[in-house]
Amino acid sequence: MARHLITSAIPYINGIKHLGNLVGSQLPADLYARYLRARGHEVMFLCATDEHGTPAELAAAKAGKPVDEFCAEMWGVQAKIADGFRLSFDHFGRSSSEQNKKLTQHFAAQLDKQGLIREVSETQMYSHADGRYLPDRYIEGTCPNCGFEDARGDQCDNCTKQLDPVELINPRSTISGSTDLEMRETKHLYLRQSEMKDQLDRWIDSKTDWPILTTSIAKKWLHDGDGLQDRGITRDLDWGVPVMKGDAPWPGMEGKVFYVWFDAPIEYIACAQEWVDAGKGTDWERWWRTDKGADDVRYTQFMGKDNVPFHTLSFPTTILGSGEPWKLVDYIKSFNYLNYDGGQFSTSRGRGVFMDQALEILPSDYWRWWLLSHAPESADSEFTWENFQVSVNKDLADVLGNFASRVTKFCRSKYSEAVPAGGAYGAREEQLMSDLAAKLAEYEAHMEAIEVRKSATALRAAWALGNEYLQEVAPWTTFKTDPDQAAAQIRLALNLIRLYAIISSPFIPDASAELLDAMKSDDDAWPTDIKAALAAMPEGHEFAVPEVTFRKITDAERTEWQERFAGTRD
Ligand code: MF3
Ligand code: ZN
Repeated sequence: MARHLITSAIPYINGIKHLGNLVGSQLPADLYARYLRARGHEVMFLCATDEHGTPAELAAAKAGKPVDEFCAEMWGVQAKIADGFRLSFDHFGRSSSEQNKKLTQHFAAQLDKQGLIREVSETQMYSHADGRYLPDRYIEGTCPNCGFEDARGDQCDNCTKQLDPVELINPRSTISGSTDLEMRETKHLYLRQSEMKDQLDRWIDSKTDWPILTTSIAKKWLHDGDGLQDRGITRDLDWGVPVMKGDAPWPGMEGKVFYVWFDAPIEYIACAQEWVDAGKGTDWERWWRTDKGADDVRYTQFMGKDNVPFHTLSFPTTILGSGEPWKLVDYIKSFNYLNYDGGQFSTSRGRGVFMDQALEILPSDYWRWWLLSHAPESADSEFTWENFQVSVNKDLADVLGNFASRVTKFCRSKYSEAVPAGGAYGAREEQLMSDLAAKLAEYEAHMEAIEVRKSATALRAAWALGNEYLQEVAPWTTFKTDPDQAAAQIRLALNLIRLYAIISSPFIPDASAELLDAMKSDDDAWPTDIKAALAAMPEGHEFAVPEVTFRKITDAERTEWQERFAGTRD
């Protein structure tokens, strides 16, 4: 038994996330957390909302609400939806928490003590029309790197380059649209990431088992152009963590706050403190301080590719540069993008399926299965309604659901609602068990390596083995000549339902729980010995015929949804 700390990139507070966001961080993190728990490991799975910065301010202004009120409300909305998708966080925190404020200010003071912060006098965009400085997202313009016309002040969504607002060509205010902007002098704090470059480089080099997507992005930032650049970590905003040196004021920084990307990853740590303060646990340091036991912890982070530079370079600079024994990440799993029906998901245009809408039309397991089995790992992937319909109808309804319903109904009609006695297992049953053992080993290996798609493929293949067996031995035919032999076949198949429920639970927790419930088994131990696992429900063990576990998606529904989600929500 090991201890695993798992964090998912914390979603921005500014709105409800779409399925592309979900599959890029929270959902695969949940899959991994559930798997590890099922294998008996101790798991701490944390997520939160990312509440500071301009996106939150802009969204609150649009909603006509004070930003703190807006954030509190949206946290509730996101927490409820996360629950709907059965995301099994040990705690869902808030980056605007008091704990995070304190910790962020503490880290800034430590970094300063270690000589990793410098003050920079810089020119910044001042908007006459808006009467204020315009930080990052209040400015849009043309990307100097790729020419994309709607690049934001802090990052280009098209080529992912991190930008400084003053670099934008034809900049405009996103508040007023005004182009009457003036560059003015103001002082800011910079994190001296360049000082850490060699150390970070060696660290990344040592991670030979990390996904190429993760290391290649890190390497690009370390080596492209002039190499890793220092990064401004303060902003002229009202909403955020006030710039302080621990408890002390920071001369010259009055009225400024830390940049959202400085305090957001620190929330991973603060979230564990929130977990304690919420009364859910007693010791957060054993997860986060290597001097307090966290050197035994394996820490895995999940995120979309646009988040990789911050997690491979900036946050490690904060951790390593603090000079204190904080836990550094062990493995970073990153994802490409999920596209929607021939284009991109778009939050601003309401294109694609958003998390709340998804749950309105189908239960979470349908989405979990499709998203995870099509996770954008080696390349971007695409959601289409046709593909969704085929996957759900085939994998879930025809293969898994049908197996459970056929076996239980046949048993009820020919024997009773209890595991039938009689007959014995022969060569075909031995074969099935050894095939299953091999498939299960494959599944476990992929899960351990966080190969999400490959795990889904192995699981689907394990389901298919049961179907093939059933098809081949055809107990409904056997029954006519040899009811004892048919009883043995059904006994094995009933036990198989229980086994499927257990091993499928990381992917489809609700259906798994229903099936286990129907099998009236409270033994949900992970199968380590197939033979023993398939004997867990002995002769005479009662069960119930499960409700329809998965229903099919009709062509009419598919067409209707396709139209409904083509653009502009509400
Ligand atoms: N809110 C960011 C996004 O959605 C992710 C922040 S992850 C953390 O892209 F590192 F800041 F925590
Ligand atoms: Zn660009």
